[in-house]
Amino acid sequence: MKLSLFAVVSLVGLSSAFPADLLNAIADIEALELPSIYAALDLSKSRTNCGPTPCGVFNAQEQFVSTTGEHAYAKPRSNQIRGPCPALNAAANHGYLDRSGGFSPPFHPAVDLTNTAGVTTLPETVSGLGAAFGMSTELSAFLAAYAIIMNGNPLDGTWSIGGPPPTGLLGGLTSGLLGDSQGISYSHNIYEGDTSIGRNDAYLNNGDAHSLNVTRFASAYATGLGNDRYTLDGFAQDFLKKVQESIANNPYYFAAPFSTTLVAPVAYNFVINLMSNHSAAEPDGYLDGETFKAFFGVTGDYPNFKWLKGQERIPDNWYRRPSSVPYGIPNGFLDLAINFQAYPGTLRLGGNTNGVNTYVGVDLSDITGGVYHSSDLLNLKTSNAACFYAQVVQAVIPDGAAPLLGKLSAILNLVNKWIKPITGSFKCGIIGKYDQTLFNKFPGYKYRPKGQATIYKE
Ligand code: HEM
Ligand SMILES: *[C@@H]1O[C@H](CO)[C@@H](O)[C@H](O)[C@H]1NC(C)=O
Ligand SMILES: *[C@@H]1O[C@H](CO)[C@@H](O)[C@H](O)[C@H]1NC(C)=O
Repeated sequence: MKLSLFAVVSLVGLSSAFPADLLNAIADIEALELPSIYAALDLSKSRTNCGPTPCGVFNAQEQFVSTTGEHAYAKPRSNQIRGPCPALNAAANHGYLDRSGGFSPPFHPAVDLTNTAGVTTLPETVSGLGAAFGMSTELSAFLAAYAIIMNGNPLDGTWSIGGPPPTGLLGGLTSGLLGDSQGISYSHNIYEGDTSIGRNDAYLNNGDAHSLNVTRFASAYATGLGNDRYTLDGFAQDFLKKVQESIANNPYYFAAPFSTTLVAPVAYNFVINLMSNHSAAEPDGYLDGETFKAFFGVTGDYPNFKWLKGQERIPDNWYRRPSSVPYGIPNGFLDLAINFQAYPGTLRLGGNTNGVNTYVGVDLSDITGGVYHSSDLLNLKTSNAACFYAQVVQAVIPDGAAPLLGKLSAILNLVNKWIKPITGSFKCGIIGKYDQTLFNKFPGYKYRPKGQATIYKE
């Protein structure tokens, strides 16, 4: 904290005598354990592509990701689903996830409930994303469990990396928690949120927040043009720009706690931490423009890019993050807290209230009865952030939304096994009432577009 004191003092040009109110202000800052903005920027810029702590190890054999044989690239066929997440699409295109992309004929559970081949399940997600990216078990299981509960089918444990099953195959059996399973393509404010790297805000694109907008992609791409290197700090700056754009252009901009406050900004950090190439010379990884484009299914040269729908690829000769230093939940919260501190305009919980440029924030303490505070999300001790999110995810599971026998217990199993454990051994403050009525003033809060299966045909 010496650094922060020093920075605050030098900012106001004081040397020895501290006015009482400045001392109080410093005491407040100390209490929150926030480094000064200068220290935060330094920390953000000093990160490697493995985060604030370098990976430090490289093992070519372990980190090489096969793109041949069973992992050869194949673009999606007409009955295969792809969606808003480039990493899931690329993993499915290379058979690290099931190539169906979710519920898909002829293996759709409506056809044969005992056949889990040909669909996307939690265990397959964990092993596939571990093998392809070095994502930790607890992080990919948490992400998959939430997808299954909110947008998939808790009864058979399947989920879709794109939209709902192709029309006519619903058979009544895939109705998820919120009605028919919509997959993550149509999970606005639940999983998918505004201010994405490359996807439009749903409201500004007739509900389509899964297709890539090459102009948005080019904005992120521009951050590395100078030396053909992409960094956590550069992407944090691009995120700030996109937050400002959404507030200025999208009357329905709404930062819901999970989808837009957490998932959308975390995705920027995923690109750097999980799509970088690793080598003996650069064990902490480096990401160049070609690799960034391949993972996003983009061709062409800046700024004239073209997106090849659903054709995201793992590049040949690519070495992922080491399995011994996987990207997990603590890494995710820490990178996010550093970004929020370095670029305070990026921590958003709230939205536009009455047209563009009418952003109003909501304090966490108001929706959690004072148990959590917005500052918990930018604290470098990430235990409160984990505690808050573990409870929020449970709180948004609607009461009595389990008309089908067995569904509630299936959901509880997923919660107990994969969601509650993210709090580790922390003593979490318990939220008595999670008050979502405070979101009613945001027109974007209730916006929930539906659509077709996200099947990309050329
Ligand atoms: C079970 C695991 C995963 C789930 C359920 C998931 C889900 C999602 C969802 C719902 C979105 C849309 C969010 C938005 O509105 O911006 C998204 C975007 C994204 N995801 Fe994933 N994801 C998973 C794993 C990964 C992994 C392993 C990576 C990186 C290797 C990754 C990288 C990204 C990126 C970069 C975006 C933003 C795309 C863009 O804005 O153009 N995801 N993901
Ligand atoms: C893509 O994004 C840019 C910048 O946000 C926006 O001006 C443009 O309308 C979008 N294009 C499409 C086709 O949605
Ligand atoms: C990854 O790095 C290695 C070592 O520098 C290099 O041989 C390989 O071509 C790189 N892969 C990609 C996809 O750039």
